[in-house]
Amino acid sequence: MSELHGALNPAELERLGLDAAQVLDFSSNCLPGLAHPRVREAVRSAAIEPYPSPDAAPLRLRLSACHRVSLDAVVAGAGAAQLIFASVQAYSREGDRVLVVSPSFGEYADAAVALRRRVERVHVAPDDTPDLGAVFRAVQQFKPALVFVCQPNNPTGRLWPEAQLVRLMQVCLDNESLLVVDHAYRTFVDPSQRFRSIEGAINLYSLTKDFALAGVRLGYAVLPVYRAAALNAVLPPWSVSQPAIAAGLAALEPEVIDATDRAIVAVRESAASLWEALRARGVVVLPTDTHFALLERPGASAFRQRLLERASVQIRSAASFGLPDHVRVASKGVAADAKLLQAWDRFGAESESEL
Ligand SMILES: Cc1ncc(COP(=O)(O)O)c(C=O)c1O
Repeated sequence: MSELHGALNPAELERLGLDAAQVLDFSSNCLPGLAHPRVREAVRSAAIEPYPSPDAAPLRLRLSACHRVSLDAVVAGAGAAQLIFASVQAYSREGDRVLVVSPSFGEYADAAVALRRRVERVHVAPDDTPDLGAVFRAVQQFKPALVFVCQPNNPTGRLWPEAQLVRLMQVCLDNESLLVVDHAYRTFVDPSQRFRSIEGAINLYSLTKDFALAGVRLGYAVLPVYRAAALNAVLPPWSVSQPAIAAGLAALEPEVIDATDRAIVAVRESAASLWEALRARGVVVLPTDTHFALLERPGASAFRQRLLERASVQIRSAASFGLPDHVRVASKGVAADAKLLQAWDRFGAESESEL
């Protein structure tokens, strides 16, 4: 668990005798700090006795206005994670091919494997200039049922050129493949792109990252209307709880969006300073377009463990992304980042044999 995702793992902390409140978590890419007070208040006062709307209609209505699409072009779920699994289930059959970029978010391949699809991987060097050319060729070669692209990519934080994504959509159409674009971190590149979609694709959005709502579980898809019935058919009714609907509606208030966008700009600035400080220490920080980045660090898993046990600082080993000599770090703001740098100064120079 601790190697497969970022964020604190209560069982691991208990085993190590660490108090979660004392651990600084740089392994999760969510906006640091608490959710906006209006969102917290909305969750607190949500009516929890009745069933929620079975298909989160009030929230979908708001989202359809934000995206300027019809209500039926929005499907809500318990986080983008649920919609990834649901997309595989809805749009492919057992034995079909699912194409994923590597490295990228592991749940695309995990969902495909869990549902007995065949996973095809396109390997892209994490420090290369983002280029979907190899993905175009793989779509032509494999004619997969589904193609997952993460925009910007996790763990690299790099944004694929939008013109290439539009072109990929056309390549998918030509090969009867369906493109799924995961925009979970899109606002961290540019908050003004919050409601941007690739036409014709299944566009997945997470409300858990920028609004700091990971515990609430809330995400949605924007998709061609004729694709919605298949996705709805595999989602259980009431997938989005009433507190989650309330949180989403509060988060989409203009005042909350504005405050969130300002917080994103601040974390992008602290991230830029963090990369600079790490590079000044000789650390290789791979190019990124977001507030998180891959850093070269031989023996990433052991190093992660060391920082957690010795400094109560958690970073993400990139081993599960197939990068055992990289860690992924997200900025948590200037004050927290200074503590990461302190921990790096104390333990970062130690060689593998000392770990
Ligand atoms: C790229 C990407 N997509 C989706 C998710 C899942 O998001 P959610 O919390 O909305 O399920 C994550 C979580 O780490 C992620 O990194």
